Amino acid sequence: MKRHWNTYLAMRKNQLRALKNIPELMVLLWSSGSVLVVAELASRLTLGLLPLAGLWVGKLIVDFVLAASKHSGQDPSRLWFLLAVEFGIGCLGAVLARAIDYWDSRIADEFAKHSSLLVMKHASTLDLQSFEDPVFYDTLERARCQTTDRIGILKNLGELLQQGVTLISLSIGVMMFSPLMFALLILAVVPAFLGESHFASLGYSLAYSLVPLRRELDYLRELGTKKESAKELKVFRLGDFLYDRFSDVNDEVIGRTRNLAKRRLRGGVVFGVIGSLGYYGAYAALLYRTVSGQLTLGELTFVAGALAGCSRQVQSVFSSFTNIAHQALFLTDLFAFLAVKPAICNTIDAIPAPRVIRDGFEFRNVSFAYPGINKYVLKDVNLRIGAGERVALVGENGQGKTTLVKLIPRLYEPTSGKILLDGIDLREYDIDSLRREIGVIFQDFVHYDMTARENITLGRIEYARDELQLAEAARKSGAGKIIDALPHGFDQMLGKRFEDGTDLSGGEWQKFALARAYLRDAGILILDEPTAALDALAEYEVFNRFAELTTGKIAILISHRLSTVRMADRIVVLKDGEIHEEGTHHQLIASGGRYANMFERQAASYR
Ligand SMILES: Nc1ncnc2c1ncn2[C@@H]1O[C@H](COP(=O)(O)OP(=O)(O)O)[C@@H](O)[C@H]1O
Ligand SMILES: [Mg+2]
Repeated sequence: MKRHWNTYLAMRKNQLRALKNIPELMVLLWSSGSVLVVAELASRLTLGLLPLAGLWVGKLIVDFVLAASKHSGQDPSRLWFLLAVEFGIGCLGAVLARAIDYWDSRIADEFAKHSSLLVMKHASTLDLQSFEDPVFYDTLERARCQTTDRIGILKNLGELLQQGVTLISLSIGVMMFSPLMFALLILAVVPAFLGESHFASLGYSLAYSLVPLRRELDYLRELGTKKESAKELKVFRLGDFLYDRFSDVNDEVIGRTRNLAKRRLRGGVVFGVIGSLGYYGAYAALLYRTVSGQLTLGELTFVAGALAGCSRQVQSVFSSFTNIAHQALFLTDLFAFLAVKPAICNTIDAIPAPRVIRDGFEFRNVSFAYPGINKYVLKDVNLRIGAGERVALVGENGQGKTTLVKLIPRLYEPTSGKILLDGIDLREYDIDSLRREIGVIFQDFVHYDMTARENITLGRIEYARDELQLAEAARKSGAGKIIDALPHGFDQMLGKRFEDGTDLSGGEWQKFALARAYLRDAGILILDEPTAALDALAEYEVFNRFAELTTGKIAILISHRLSTVRMADRIVVLKDGEIHEEGTHHQLIASGGRYANMFERQAASYR
């Protein structure tokens, strides 16, 4: 029992703490559209006061009618005036309600846009490391959902304000007649509030704990429908397996949700009865006082109306409040995400990266371990890459080649040691300006489901309108020939995601990636197995051009094909994160080491 209570308290505290998200939400809301927010608030405030005004005019009408029935000959013009006012109030209410619907939907749109942009923008500033961390990835996923799933809370906030105004104005009315009655009413709804919020926090904990299951569902759904997996699923006949697995996981989600819904139903019934008791107790007291002549009929109408209104409002205020608190918990995901700060960022006095590189790079005792993993992937690497030098990195899978080149654009920082560019630590350069000087194609480069033109211009968006540069990059990379064969040329949609899209082969996509790198016109080119999907001949062709294109530039290329690697000025063999040997092709062959061995094996396979 005691433990139960403690968890309960902890949960409640957690829920109230989430309300701290509300001010932050308000700021976000305000920046999404201040004019809309003001219009909405003004309408809600006015609408909130209308019930009191309506009841008051109603009371005046009843009292007038009663007096007229007792003493004939009263001037009826006052009655028509009161009626006109009541009518006006009714019309105003209807108009405001429509206006609020309109503001609400506009605010929802603007908020979704503004917060989605914020999340995208923020995500782009974060470290790569964050994205490779599954816990962070969960946070990002949840934050992303908040930009559209939390639209409800905006409406709830407006409703809460309106209900609050109505409640306060009506309570003042009720209290004017009997403070006791008001107290009775409040007492009746407090249990309902506690119950509501209790279930709300249970609901949140449940939703939170279901995240991994929901992710699994998403994954299974994706796996079952993606074209990348279709081939293998068919051949291995995995359809039924996926079907059963999906169904099981889904049943578990449904089961856990249903349990909570049942408990909530039972609790809701009990609290609802308690609330009704309070209301009817007060109503009985009111009737008694009217019958015994302490209240007029008009006053009865007014107080009974106000009482009913209050009872409704107290409950809806509490339930809006609980809704808000509940949803505010989810907002923690959004704000927690927005609060993540990149660890790799500019120093205050960051300097721009050199446009023309004089000395090149120097890795000085660089060691690196991926954060949270207790194993060095690079160990005490010392390497110089001179200006205009073409270096090839060679080694079997998992030796640290990709990791090494990730350090150059500062996607990661060395765990120890440092990397210098023109004698200055990379950390002292402005990151954007450094990255602008680097053109890189990663092993897992992106296929953009966009037009052929965009697939190239994304390499350097400033050149989006420069047809000459575009055609040049297409020609150099070999993408030009592919484009010539496309039905819509440069404007052909690539990929299968959108209508009229044409999918390309791996090698063809790679040529577009190369075109991006060329368009980038950077002083440093990094190609991480950019030709893995090309056949040997095509690769030879690409590298032939590559050699002439990289004159005067620093080029780092990673390839398994030693026939192309030999074009490099210097070859560096990595093994277990250490530099095993380095030299020109001929030097390495002559020394008869690991490289010579690899080369011999590959050459043999071609014979
Ligand atoms: N994001 C990562 N997080 C943790 N370990 C990683 C990550 N990327 C690569 N590794 C590990 O680092 C080692 C070197 O990988 P990598 O640099 O990709 O090798 P290569 O490019 O030479 O094949 C491997 O053992 C790999 O499993
Ligand atoms: Mg690699």
